[in-house]
Formats: sequence, structure tokens, C-alpha cells
Amino acid sequence: MAQNIYDNPDFFAGYSRLPRQVDGLDGAPEWPAIRRLLPDPSDKRVADLGCGFGWASRWFRERGAASVLGLDLSQNMIARAKADTNDSAIDYRIADLDTLDLPAAAFDLVYSALTFHYVQDFARLVRTIHTALTPGGDLVFTIEHPIYMAAAHPRWTADEDGRKTWPVNGYAREGERRTDWFAKGVLKHHRTLATTINTLIGAGFALQRMEEFAPTPDQIAENPNLAEELERPMMLLVSARKA
Ligand SMILES: C[S@@+](CC[C@H](N)C(=O)[O-])C[C@H]1O[C@@H](n2cnc3c(N)ncnc32)[C@H](O)[C@@H]1O
Repeated sequence: MAQNIYDNPDFFAGYSRLPRQVDGLDGAPEWPAIRRLLPDPSDKRVADLGCGFGWASRWFRERGAASVLGLDLSQNMIARAKADTNDSAIDYRIADLDTLDLPAAAFDLVYSALTFHYVQDFARLVRTIHTALTPGGDLVFTIEHPIYMAAAHPRWTADEDGRKTWPVNGYAREGERRTDWFAKGVLKHHRTLATTINTLIGAGFALQRMEEFAPTPDQIAENPNLAEELERPMMLLVSARKA
């Protein structure tokens, strides 16, 4: 049973105040890098897995997508996505990606941002997505980078000069990781980079591109806090295609 932390009131209140939820896609520093991975959404049938407030679902429609199915485990998220959307071609539904079934060849693009690391059975989900895509269809997703996931438990420590260091512990030990972020004991699932990529290949995807997001000098000049993201990769961005 997946942990539904986004329906925890304290977690949801904290999460809702993040810049990326207040300002939407432009509040996410990795958004320009994601856009470079995305195909033109025009006329595409899109699934947005872990759609949250629906920011990306609405963006796909603004860019001409034929339809968007936005799925999320959290009632809070789906309620907010519905409240913020006035578009009958976007269908938001509650669904658990760990038990998800999708119709075969029903989508041209499957997108997911920062959600797959909450999914326990990644291989099952990737097979489901592969079946749900039309031939030539794209899967574009972001996750917490596996190195960040390992480095974040424990989070940074200070070295003798007071500088933050990020020990990477137990990288090869895959499985559950707990973290305290807006609530205690948030459950995530750690997989190595090799497992992540080999799972895609094993399901029949051809890897198109991978990015380990790092902010640009301009982004750091605008928001100096982002300099921390140069110390270790925080996010992995992947685009893969169904052959
Ligand atoms: C970090 S948020 C990202 C939301 C959105 N994609 C965005 O970028 O703004 C992660 C989302 O994944 C959802 N989620 C977590 N586990 C899930 C699961 N097993 N099935 C479906 N959604 C899940 C959460 O409810 C939450 O909305």
C-alpha cells in the first residue's frame, strides 16, 4: 500500500508553499531542462502521472495536446488540480501508480515529474507505461537523483571549515528510504541509476536523453541558494521512446 503523505495536512500545507507550487512550472528551476526533453505536445494524448496541482497537465493543453489524463494518489492534489482547471479535455483522477492499469496504445506521451521515487514497483509501472504508449510514443520523467536520495540520508554535515558535505551512504542498497520533509517518515524508494535505466531498456524503451539537473550561472545569480545543487545531482531527467 503506497504511503499517501500528500494528504497529511501538515505536509500538504508546507508543500503548497513551495515556489514551484505557488508560481507553477516557472518556479521549478529544472523546467527549462525538462522542456528540452519534451516533444511537441500538439495533438498528443498525454498522461501526467503524479500530476499534483495539474501545472504540467494544463501546460500540455495550452501547447495543443488533444487530451490529458492527470493521475495522482492524493485527494488533496486532485481536488486542487480540478479547482485550478477549466478544461474538459483534462481528466483528473485518483490512482495509485503502484497498482495502475492503463489501456493499451492509448497515449502518445507519458510525463511524470518527481513522483516515480514514491513508487515501490518501478518495473511494473514501466511495463504498464510501455503498453499504454503507441509505437514511437515518449516517456519523459524526472525523479530525485539516486545519488541525492542516498546523500540525503543523512542529509548534509558540515566539514571542519563549516562547509556542507554530502556523504553518500548505502548507494547500492536499494529499497525503502525514510526522510523528514514537512512530515516525519516520508517514504521513498531508492534505486540505483543503473537499475532505473536498465528497467526502461528491459521494458523495451530506447533511451533518448538523460540530464542530471544543475542550475545555470544565470539561475544561481538570480537565486544564490541554487548553488547548492552544484554539490550533488538533485534530479534526474530522462526521456525514452517506445520503439
Ligand atoms: C513532488 S509531487 C509532484 C507533483 C507534480 N508532478 C509537480 O511536479 O508539481 C509528487 C506527487 O506524486 C504523488 N504520488 C506519490 N505517490 C504516488 C502514487 N503511488 N501514485 C500516484 N501518485 C503518487 C503525490 O501525491 C504528489 O502529488
